Amino acid sequence: MLQAIKYSESEGLDILDQLLLPQQSVYIKMKNIDDGFRAIKTMQVRGAPAIAIVGMLSMAEELKSLSFQSSGELIQRMNQRLTYLITSRPTAVNLSNACHQIRQLAEENLQLGVSELRDKLVKFAVDMLENDIADNKAIGKHGAEAIKSLNSGKQVNVLTHCNTGSLATAGYGTALGVIRALHEGGNLAHAYCTETRPYNQGCRLTAYELVHDKIPATLICDSMVSLLMGKTGVSAVVVGADRVAANGDTANKIGTQQIAIIAKHFNVPFFVAAPFTSVDFNLASGDLIPIEERPSDELACVNGMRIAAQGITCWNPAFDVTPANLITGIITERGVIEPSELSTHKKPNNIKS
Ligand code: MRU
Repeated sequence: MLQAIKYSESEGLDILDQLLLPQQSVYIKMKNIDDGFRAIKTMQVRGAPAIAIVGMLSMAEELKSLSFQSSGELIQRMNQRLTYLITSRPTAVNLSNACHQIRQLAEENLQLGVSELRDKLVKFAVDMLENDIADNKAIGKHGAEAIKSLNSGKQVNVLTHCNTGSLATAGYGTALGVIRALHEGGNLAHAYCTETRPYNQGCRLTAYELVHDKIPATLICDSMVSLLMGKTGVSAVVVGADRVAANGDTANKIGTQQIAIIAKHFNVPFFVAAPFTSVDFNLASGDLIPIEERPSDELACVNGMRIAAQGITCWNPAFDVTPANLITGIITERGVIEPSELSTHKKPNNIKS
């Protein structure tokens, strides 16, 4: 399996530099929160779950490298650094959910000595890496079953957008995990991935994963979705999420909303695959989700070469929000949930001690 994040107690944290893919596979070492912040901001690591895991593990590396006089001092330093880390990218909620949970864990264990507390916080970060793969496998299974049952067990064509695979998570992936599970079960006829302009996560990263896993797949431009659905036929769309609001409205990679609108037109089921770590129960609806705007050069240039006319202004929002009424189901590790039912699945924070 492709590994975007490598971590071990003895070797520390290394991430695959996704800016160099698919041409080169180069791992870079993360020693502290500054390294983690930089890698997230510049998108050397990206994808909502992967951002959160790298953020937490880079914090674990930083805590391991420092000495503290007291647990209170450790917590104060950690809280200050997490406040900075959260500002790296605003739309995906997984990182801020993780920061909230680890702060809570630290407060609940203030009575521990420095090294015991540090071990507990490091374990929280390491558990995130392990739990994410298990969650993705469950998402894959639930999603494949739902799509199979809508198609009476016939082989299906599935369209996805952006990259939600091993490179965006600890492994296996969310929406791409559903495609993997369909393929493993012999139920996938063909996968289609969009190019995902302007950052091209689809053609650089998803296409790379599909080829790596020998999944029958074809790359299309974002502007070909409507023709594909009308002419070739698509059984279902599955995309990921950066933040799902309590009412099921979902922020995901720019271009997702127009695919949902086209899917509605052609009566194609539109699924969002996301772990509960991507749900923000504090936001009532999607219009409250902060949308990141990226530098205009990411739109105007390809591989450092300007393709847009000099002098033109660019608007480069990285995400859009798909309203819940266009979403057939949210595929989570706990099963497929109707968007309108999402808020009934809220659980109290359950941090393992
Ligand atoms: O800007 P990116 O590449 O971080 O955006 C990624 C997406 O939009 C993914 O669909 C989302 O984070 C889910 S990844 C499992």
